[in-house]
Amino acid sequence: MKVTVVGAGAVGATCADNIARKELANELILLDIKEGFAEGKAIDMMQTATLLGFDTKITGVTGDYSKTAGSDVVVITSGLPRKPGMTREELIGINAGIVKGVAENILKFSPEAIFIVISNPMDTMTYLALKSLGLPKNRIIGMGGTLDSSRFKFYLSQALNCNPNDLQGFVIGGHGDTTMIPLTRLATYQSLPVSNLLDKATLDKVAADTMVGGATLTGLIGTSAWYAPGAAGAALVEAILRDEKKLFTCCVSLEGEYGQEDICLGVPVIVGRSGWEKIIDFKLTEDEQAAFNKSADAVRNMNSVLAE
Ligand code: NAI
Repeated sequence: MKVTVVGAGAVGATCADNIARKELANELILLDIKEGFAEGKAIDMMQTATLLGFDTKITGVTGDYSKTAGSDVVVITSGLPRKPGMTREELIGINAGIVKGVAENILKFSPEAIFIVISNPMDTMTYLALKSLGLPKNRIIGMGGTLDSSRFKFYLSQALNCNPNDLQGFVIGGHGDTTMIPLTRLATYQSLPVSNLLDKATLDKVAADTMVGGATLTGLIGTSAWYAPGAAGAALVEAILRDEKKLFTCCVSLEGEYGQEDICLGVPVIVGRSGWEKIIDFKLTEDEQAAFNKSADAVRNMNSVLAE
């Protein structure tokens, strides 16, 4: 199996590191535009192989897409991250050009690849990849809800003082501070509804903390986070290459599901060897559906910038 990660920055390198440690691919290409940067990161990671005991071959390249040929999965992390005080949406202008160019170059050499889009604003970048590449919709996956759901479970585990791995919970909608929807009603702890275990004020705080989870880290670190985003990207690569048929919230093309169409938005999907394989389209409450529609309006509004 061959995987390419585009962008050897914080998120891309962390994602590549996780892919190598888990031996998800025998060949891993790390590509960046900055001369020597991906090469350096790849060599540094390869020098952990005997310490960590993996045998994935990681190669760093500067802009040479021929080296990515025949990739099964490609993860796109290239582009600017946000700085404190910035929203993900403010990155749209510069990142749209980068993501479109990268995706088209990749496709020339890897016509069968499944694309995982991480660059922000991710919902719009995923839609851009879907529209510009013209690939079957199942091969374009945006990574946002996977991370947001993991953050949701982290905050829930803090409130419940429990192991986050015993929790289930989804964050659907857009991957923005105001567009994501942590579904507190459906979150469970070992099958018990968390709404029976926590009072409303605590649950509301968990949801609010989740929504600004990325911004909180940007404030603390000075740039956006990378450990959880990189791990979330690698978890999707794993689900694809190992045909896990696992349920994740991913940003995918909606064609009527959840009452929306001509948009990419976060919903629960089964991820396996063909990419995202099925949308789990369950009935939302009136309030949840209204929040989802509002989220879709905001993302659609952002997508309209692409046409300008
Ligand atoms: P970074 O600045 O550390 O890395 C970005 C890398 O992209 C840089 O090394 C840069 O040289 C490279 N790059 C820029 N243009 C390129 C091109 N045309 N071709 C190849 N490489 C190119 O940024 P970081 O922290 O890794 O974030 C990357 C992106 O991921 C940002 O847009 C950020 O907002 C986004 N992100 C998305 C998350 C999500 O949940 N979807 C979570 C965290 C970050």
